[in-house]
Amino acid sequence: MNYNLLKGKRGIIFGALDEQSIAWKVAERVHEEGGEFVLTNAPIAMRMGEIKKLSIKTNSEIIPADATNLEDLQKLVEGSVSMLGGKIDFVLHSIGMSVNVRKGNSYTAQNYDFTQKGWDVSALSFHKVCQTLHKNDAMNQWGSILALTYIAAQRTFPDYNDMADNKAYLESIARSFGYFLGKEKNVRINTISQSPTPTTAGKGIKGFAGFLSYAEKMSPLGNATGLECANYIVTLFSDLTKKVTMQNLYHDGGFSNSGVTDEVIEKFED
Ligand code: NAI
Repeated sequence: MNYNLLKGKRGIIFGALDEQSIAWKVAERVHEEGGEFVLTNAPIAMRMGEIKKLSIKTNSEIIPADATNLEDLQKLVEGSVSMLGGKIDFVLHSIGMSVNVRKGNSYTAQNYDFTQKGWDVSALSFHKVCQTLHKNDAMNQWGSILALTYIAAQRTFPDYNDMADNKAYLESIARSFGYFLGKEKNVRINTISQSPTPTTAGKGIKGFAGFLSYAEKMSPLGNATGLECANYIVTLFSDLTKKVTMQNLYHDGGFSNSGVTDEVIEKFED
């Protein structure tokens, strides 16, 4: 269904790697709702070529940027304002990567160079994005900035590894920067805590299939899909949610407030 909720709005979407990416689905839905945007990803992800298909489909330009690199972010923000013909109304940060997870290091045996790299990519990059937008006064009044997170920031999921710490930091940035951009520009900043979703980043977590079906059984509404996440994001970019800010918003079918469910109990009955 299409409500034209984002007609006339301009944005930047980080993190569309392939068709499974949450950001990919967001780009498709935002386009359907009338929004215009620049797509961006790390230069290395660009070489895989998939994003070109998305840019054609959504009639959008691509500006490569490593989200940890301030020069790249400066060029991205300047380029986006100039290509889109005005200030920015919405930004999606959909970026995550742990080098420790990739290399198979457990939480108790981290390589701290990897920890720092993962933190820079997954958490600090969100501050860098917000600071670059702020420094350039690139956001429109009542704009909306979002990042994606996971409930391992609040509760322990051992195999989520150092990404749990990165997500806790990311969520804190939304609250802290949300204060300043709220006061100065009426811009809102939130994080969405999404169900496990089968994407490249998701499937990188050890035991992901078990994770996915456990969450499905623990959520009264079932896991939220990537497309459902994109629909929720459309509402948060729209003018219908102007006073929602500095929040961590659960989009998880009820998982976060479920102690146990019948489906899970059944597994333990003799
Ligand atoms: P994905 O693998 O499709 O997206 C991750 C993106 O991060 C990729 O496009 C990748 O190129 C980009 N990226 C990595 N390093 C970068 C850098 N230095 N600069 C710019 N971009 C960089 O996976 P997915 O699942 O769509 O991930 C999007 C967000 O959703 C992440 O923050 C992830 O942690 C979060 N999330 C994912 C869940 C899942 O189960 N898949 C659950 C909850 C949150």
